[in-house]
Amino acid sequence: MIDFTNLPTRKKAYGGANGSKLSVIYNNELYMLKLPMHALKNPSLSYTNSCTSEYLGCHIFNMLGIKAQETLLGEYEYHGKVKNVVACKDFTSPNTTIVDFASVKNQIIDSASNGYGTELSDILDTIQKQNAVDPKELEEHFWNMFVIDAFIGNWDRHNGNWGFLYNQETDEMKIAPIFDCGSSLFPQIDDELIKKVISSKAEMNARVYDMPTSAILVDGKRGNYHKMITSLKYRGCTDAVKRIAPRINLEDINILIDEVEQLTQLQKDFLKAILKLRKELILDATLKEIEK
Ligand SMILES: Nc1ncnc2c1ncn2[C@@H]1O[C@H](COP(=O)(O)OP(=O)(O)OP(=O)(O)O)[C@@H](O)[C@H]1O
Ligand SMILES: [Mg+2]
Repeated sequence: MIDFTNLPTRKKAYGGANGSKLSVIYNNELYMLKLPMHALKNPSLSYTNSCTSEYLGCHIFNMLGIKAQETLLGEYEYHGKVKNVVACKDFTSPNTTIVDFASVKNQIIDSASNGYGTELSDILDTIQKQNAVDPKELEEHFWNMFVIDAFIGNWDRHNGNWGFLYNQETDEMKIAPIFDCGSSLFPQIDDELIKKVISSKAEMNARVYDMPTSAILVDGKRGNYHKMITSLKYRGCTDAVKRIAPRINLEDINILIDEVEQLTQLQKDFLKAILKLRKELILDATLKEIEK
């Protein structure tokens, strides 16, 4: 287990509402260290598992061919208490800064909502009108991300949680690696609840069909991943399922999960089971629907 406690620090500071963040130098590289948040929705869990979710979520994106930030798990001691943390390698450089999708959306003068508005039609409209990168490439990226977020159950892919890298010397933009997967893979579920859920088909199915919902809105309401994807209503989404679903290798993902020291056996069993079920009931079901 890597100990991130006594590393050299930098003054660089990071935003975001989900927990404290430090910048540290590890192996001569700059990392953003994310500390876990108190589990507000679950008082019986002192901290959320958002750090392991970040690590697993980013690794799954990379395994499926969509570039994500590099992450490492480790520990950080503060006031005598050791916390599990995730270190995210900083993907910016002195010339290259991160510009989130919300900022690019703000450039669209006749956009139906502000930069943080996540109504699907408004996002798709911005993707066509923006001139940061090729619209076709960006639309593909958006739906790839949506489909993988559906697989890992990401609750929080708002417009500040994806975007671009801007090179201020060349004035060029490119799509940034995926970051902030901390709200995926049920970070607030504890062993007690897992025991109840894992043995109940209804409870497991509810965690595929009903929750979590997407940060992307449809007619003002948080989108239901299962309904949106299996409906085949969004061509770009259907194409992304065809691209992404065949790349999923559950055995490799199970090995990744098994290697995480910070998770209990029960947590590992739950994550493996829910990913298998989400793949079957959302993505494989969509492939079957397409064949029909
Ligand atoms: N690997 C990275 N390299 C450089 N900057 C990053 C990296 N990952 C995230 N950031 C920046 O730091 C900010 C905070 O990170 P992150 O989104 O992971 O935090 P969070 O607290 O989980 O956010 P939220 O409020 O969306 O839950 C991001 O919005 C982004 O601007
Ligand atoms: Mg964020």
